[in-house]
Amino acid sequence: MWNNKQMKHLISMQDISKEDILHFVDVAEKIETGKLSPDLNGQLAALLFFEPSTRTKFSFETAMKKLGGTALSLKDAEQTSLKKGESLHDTLMTISQYVDLVIMRSPIEGSCRYASEILNIPVINAGDGANQHPTQALLDMYSIMKTQGRLDNLNIAMVENLKFGRTVHSLSQALSDFSPNLYFISPGHLKMPEHIKNDLKSKNVNFSEHDKIEDVIDKLDIMYVTRIQKERFTDPEEYEKVKNLYIVDTPILKNVKDSFKIMHPLPRVM
Ligand code: CP
Repeated sequence: MWNNKQMKHLISMQDISKEDILHFVDVAEKIETGKLSPDLNGQLAALLFFEPSTRTKFSFETAMKKLGGTALSLKDAEQTSLKKGESLHDTLMTISQYVDLVIMRSPIEGSCRYASEILNIPVINAGDGANQHPTQALLDMYSIMKTQGRLDNLNIAMVENLKFGRTVHSLSQALSDFSPNLYFISPGHLKMPEHIKNDLKSKNVNFSEHDKIEDVIDKLDIMYVTRIQKERFTDPEEYEKVKNLYIVDTPILKNVKDSFKIMHPLPRVM
């Protein structure tokens, strides 16, 4: 399914080229419209979700079933031998003996990269802590193409939890080869991390940082809203201070462009 045949794992959008993204969008469109029916021919995928998920887990389970493969889902990490003190290394090596592919979600940043370095089978990152969520970004690129008819030269705002939001880290990198104007809207202490901004600067991507949605709303093609992730805050008081800062309601949308769309990776709360 890869455009680049050297590619084995899907860990970070930083590893994915513009050609790969266009290829994925094209394949997704062909599958959705019934022009392509890939056959996984009974291959097995291990779904190792060490963090809660509704959409991503069901998406992979559904995709494996519909494409003729089987997903073996870890029901509860507490019920594995990790609980008895087995290392992640040994658990991954063991599970990889049974399956053709590992799909992993973890609260630990870098753990999916680690899995890809020790395993001889492909690894897909289904979200690692506050780092990356590359399959969400590919889905977002497909949604943008469907609603805007193009990926190039779009005005896109990312709102709220830019520090811990792995979806916006992956999506801003996915957009970086498509000449976007990016507007990062967040409270001061939830700004986009420096390493993502440095990556965008190295690719000459236009971006600016703002406190208020109102500053940019009338220019936007897409407003990508994220959730303030309570689980990533060590200090509950810090969470309380920011949890209601950005409310998207009808008055705020009164001057939007006709083509304007709101996107959200979900879950939405409050
Ligand atoms: N978008 C997303 O990752 O949702 P889940 O956490 O429910 O998988």
